[in-house]
Amino acid sequence: MFTDTHCHIFKEYYEDIDEIINNANNSKINRIIVASDNQSTANEVLDLVSKYDNVYGCIGLHPENIDEEFDYSIFDKLPSKIIAIGEIGLDYYYTKDNKEKQIEVLRKQLSIAQRLNLPVVIHSREATQDTINVLKDYKVKGVIHSFSGSLETAKIYIKMGFKLGINGVITFKNCNLKDVYKELSPRDIVLETDSPYLTPVPYRGQRNEPARVLDIAMFLCNLYNIDLYELSRVTNDNIKEIFNI
Ligand code: NI
Repeated sequence: MFTDTHCHIFKEYYEDIDEIINNANNSKINRIIVASDNQSTANEVLDLVSKYDNVYGCIGLHPENIDEEFDYSIFDKLPSKIIAIGEIGLDYYYTKDNKEKQIEVLRKQLSIAQRLNLPVVIHSREATQDTINVLKDYKVKGVIHSFSGSLETAKIYIKMGFKLGINGVITFKNCNLKDVYKELSPRDIVLETDSPYLTPVPYRGQRNEPARVLDIAMFLCNLYNIDLYELSRVTNDNIKEIFNI
């Protein structure tokens, strides 16, 4: 059995969440972790974790949404199925003009994670050095979601206590991420889909969903030359270590 450690199964993208969860269960995905990125998705995450036994959640404000209203008091009364703060981080892809504010919002949420003793789910795009510098100031562990950096960067994050979130991107043609992950161990990774985005090969062009974790898992079994049972055992240990589920 596998876990989708990062997805966005919200009403905006899916008409029938029951069906998406059934599809996952039928594809050996027995747990799903849903990540919020703003206030309204945070509220949806709270609804989803209370409605579905095998759905867990992360609550956080994404760097692209820092100008939206966000009520931080949501962190004062988190139910036990909220297992991390996320997704939070830095994204300089569209603009770095607001980087001071991005860093401030990230620091605020890292402090909250530290105080609540919760792991963090980090989004970092074109902001590697700042992300590492900021994370160094906090005693937190977690996942670098959709990691797509160099082997050197991977090793820095792993040394800091992070696992790397790996998704459909690794299956893309001409993707040299394979070479990076080949040098790492299954002990360093967790599987995710980032649904509805980043659909793996051969389903490119279709909407992604948590059931596709199985396709990513099979790809990795080839890469590491291990079987599904072994990959599931190791990645579930990694999830236990980070998220305590
Ligand atoms: Ni995401």
